Amino acid sequence: MATTQSEDRTVGAGFHGLWPTPIGLHRYADAATLNPLLVRVFEEGRAAQQRKRGEEPGPFFASDDDLLHRVKVPEWQDFVRFLVHSLGETAKQANRAAWAGRELELKVGIEGMWFQFSRDGAFHDVHTHGNCSWSSAYIVQIDEPQRRVSHPVYGAANGVTRLYGPHFTALGGAFVDVGNAYLQPPHHDIEPVPGQLLLFPSWLAHQAMPYDGEKDRIIISFNASIHAAQGDQMHGYSAH
Ligand SMILES: [Fe+2]
Repeated sequence: MATTQSEDRTVGAGFHGLWPTPIGLHRYADAATLNPLLVRVFEEGRAAQQRKRGEEPGPFFASDDDLLHRVKVPEWQDFVRFLVHSLGETAKQANRAAWAGRELELKVGIEGMWFQFSRDGAFHDVHTHGNCSWSSAYIVQIDEPQRRVSHPVYGAANGVTRLYGPHFTALGGAFVDVGNAYLQPPHHDIEPVPGQLLLFPSWLAHQAMPYDGEKDRIIISFNASIHAAQGDQMHGYSAH
């Protein structure tokens, strides 16, 4: 008799680490060629959108979220293939148990994509993303590490993406002893490296920490959904 996925996940005697947080870090091989092109394209795009919106240039700018279809340089399609491939690989690893060895043909949907500029201490406060399964930050440009971390106020956290563990919102970790030492640190900083793609679950609380530097901090963000071409067939995964 066929067993359901949930039956396969019976929790028996022993130790279990339930609900780990999947994170994917990928590097785009042609970043040194693509990123300077994107800086030019985004600077032009920012100026055009600010004119359209009647905005004055300021320390923070977020573009409209239709970037995926807006960029016309020929190198863009290879970059999009890298994003789709990276999403597939990270989702595959995160769902190794849930997919139970099934070879799925994935349909990756990038639901919204935009770029952001920040400087002069601009930041994006703690938030989550909805209506999708994966979210991201790709670093296009930021100060070199030595200059970035030597900032007199922000130090090593200057311009990093800070991820908050799922227990953080429940004040898990506010009481500290050796018994719950595994909860520390309650957040983790992802060092910003040009060409690096960070993929994280959309439900994960995160923050773009304040940034100040010689160069603008420029990133691309997007939200993605992932479906199986043959149908998601998730009925076997529902909790009892
Ligand atoms: Fe975000």
